[in-house]
Amino acid sequence: TTVDPAGLLAIAVTVAREAADTARSMRAEGVSGVTTKSTDTDVVTAADRAVERQVVAALGALRPGDTVLGEEYGGTDGDARVRWVVDPIDGTVNYLYGLPQYAVSLAAEVDGVAVAAVVRNAATGDEWTATLGGGAFRGKKRLAASAQTDLAQALVATGFGYDAKRRAHQAEVLTRLITRVRDIRRFGAASLDLCLAAEGGVDAYFEKGLNPWDHAAGGLIAAEAGLVVGGLDGRPAGLDMLVAAPPAIFGPLADLLSEFDAAGGP
Ligand code: IPD
Repeated sequence: TTVDPAGLLAIAVTVAREAADTARSMRAEGVSGVTTKSTDTDVVTAADRAVERQVVAALGALRPGDTVLGEEYGGTDGDARVRWVVDPIDGTVNYLYGLPQYAVSLAAEVDGVAVAAVVRNAATGDEWTATLGGGAFRGKKRLAASAQTDLAQALVATGFGYDAKRRAHQAEVLTRLITRVRDIRRFGAASLDLCLAAEGGVDAYFEKGLNPWDHAAGGLIAAEAGLVVGGLDGRPAGLDMLVAAPPAIFGPLADLLSEFDAAGGP
């Protein structure tokens, strides 16, 4: 089986399209099977579970032997070189309310490095893709980050975790950041936030406490569009913080977040 990024991307796109169709048609019939996970506001629906099962089954048929890490069912066992990282519905709260900002996010990692990624907005059909070294695209259009060089003029997207203590900390950071940037946006799906940043729809994005399925695909798409994607103080992008910003404002934004201790707290 191939570990070639283009081949993996073709599979990712096929699987994500079918998954997005399922999410959208289930939404048309109304939301069902709503339960909560880590907190009372962290919801999961029948569609999250059904879409993840569908993605795992489709990948299992096309790529037997690869492993999968999914938001709802966790990881499968094995020591394959290729691991698929899937968020069946990123933006579940938007899905719940019928806001057209929820997505299937699917990345293929080879030896732990994301090499192919697709994020498909299941409500609108908009689709972003990237391969490592091959650029980022929305449909056929090649993407480039915003040319913003001044943090004070930057439109910055962010998101919040579901834990109340963490949210309080995130709110404190925002209280300080809001006077230092053009404005803040909170759309409700990390993968789509990263795709927006990749096409210059916002200048930058940051969030603390993301899980791999939230940023594996969107992170590659943003990086391939020319954004710097990383953590604070030279750490890799991940759990404590992910910042995605054009090269000229990554440093200033990361420094401010570091000063506000955005990666600290709960
Ligand atoms: C959430 C969304 C949200 C972000 C949260 C994520 P989910 O994912 O991406 O925008 O702020 O950190 O957990 O739960 O909708 O898949």
